[in-house]
Amino acid sequence: MVFYVVKKLNTFRKTNLMKKFVKIFLLFLVSALVIIQFIKPDTNSPAEDKTKFIASNMQIPDNIFKQLEKSCFDCHSYRTQWPWYSKISPVVYLINSDVKKGREHLNFSVWGDYDKPRMMDKLDGIETEVKDGEMPLSIYLPMHPEAKLTESDKKMLTDWARTAKEQLSTK
Ligand code: HEC
Repeated sequence: MVFYVVKKLNTFRKTNLMKKFVKIFLLFLVSALVIIQFIKPDTNSPAEDKTKFIASNMQIPDNIFKQLEKSCFDCHSYRTQWPWYSKISPVVYLINSDVKKGREHLNFSVWGDYDKPRMMDKLDGIETEVKDGEMPLSIYLPMHPEAKLTESDKKMLTDWARTAKEQLSTK
């Protein structure tokens, strides 16, 4: 009987300790999450010089423009839209790094700064990346289902990129 009571008491203390531990841990986690909200990278996009925007430098059919806007501009232009959840630390660091890397590789907002060989190289890149399903980055799609490219979207974009590249080469 005494043994039974001691055993019960012991498990009671153990679970109580466990509960306390979980509480402290959660409190710590929540405070850490709150504190890191004050530490964020600068996500303000540089102002876009409209004369350098791709649409000011080449004719883009409407449907192509809309598709690029929907699927690519967030990472490949200064027209990035930042939904509220994208600004939560620490996720914002991951997203910001993709946006920065994306703009370094291809930036539709500074298209006018590219020389002809570079434009052709980028158009060639668009054709292959889209054809191979590498772009838009898969990590982007769960939160942006509208950016996903169907087979016909892919064909439309790759056809456009190839034709635009050919037109540049004969100019
Ligand atoms: C979520 C961000 C994101 C989206 C959306 C996105 N990209 Fe990218 N893209 C990147 C990153 C980051 C790179 C750099 C290479 C890498 O990390 O794979 C890249 C690289 C590229 C490159 C290679 C450029 C070069 O010359 O090195 C092309 C071309 C490209 N993307 C085209 C597109 C197109 C077209 C779309 C829309 C259909 C698109 N991307 C959508 C992030 C993105």
